[in-house]
Amino acid sequence: MAVIAPSILSADFMNLGEEVRRMEKVGAQILHVDVMDGNFVPNLTIGVPVVEKLSQWTELSLDVHLMIANPEQTVDLYIDAGANYLSVHFETVLHLDRLLDRIRERGVQPGVVLNPHTPVSALEEVLPKCHHVLLMSVNPGFGGQQFISSSFQKVRKLKSLIDSQDLSVKIEIDGGIGLGNVREAVESGVDIVVAGSAIFGSEDPEEAFLQMEKNASIN
Ligand code: DX5
Ligand code: ZN
Repeated sequence: MAVIAPSILSADFMNLGEEVRRMEKVGAQILHVDVMDGNFVPNLTIGVPVVEKLSQWTELSLDVHLMIANPEQTVDLYIDAGANYLSVHFETVLHLDRLLDRIRERGVQPGVVLNPHTPVSALEEVLPKCHHVLLMSVNPGFGGQQFISSSFQKVRKLKSLIDSQDLSVKIEIDGGIGLGNVREAVESGVDIVVAGSAIFGSEDPEEAFLQMEKNASIN
């Protein structure tokens, strides 16, 4: 069954602790945390101290999405801060094979993120070292953007690549997912669905989470 991972990017940062509690109460398991540096992406969000506080505050798994240049320099800080899943962009790493090993050796689930323009074939060699692959279905940097319609086709290509290597790497999708397309995401092969504005941007985030889960379930 696919898991919905609320993205705190669209949460009320002035009440972040309470926003996280709301997601715990409705049974979320994973919290998606967007780290942006104002360099790799134009936007600037949160960093190590907030990840550290979140890991002390909640039992939810922290899925840290690093949208930063030179992540080799800082992954250890995010691991020390309590990240459970740590995803680095393919476009930002020179020695990806070595970095994935390092993350895994430190007991954290490593993942690679692909921008919309990066083909899944770029992952052929490193796929066995990934716990998950995160496909961006918008250009990274902002919440609330429009879903790029070719993204489900990309999910299917990635699923074929994973199957062809007899692996069980999880597929995550991020950007523009809501009630209307979550089911198609899951039917394409997505295991982890990130949703920011569809949950925290709604009138009732708890209800929105539950409805996303319902729409995602394939019987
Ligand atoms: C965008 C971030 C996403 C963002 C998604 O760069 O990586 O995690 O929160 O937001 P929505 O779900 O609103 O598209
Ligand atoms: Zn993200």
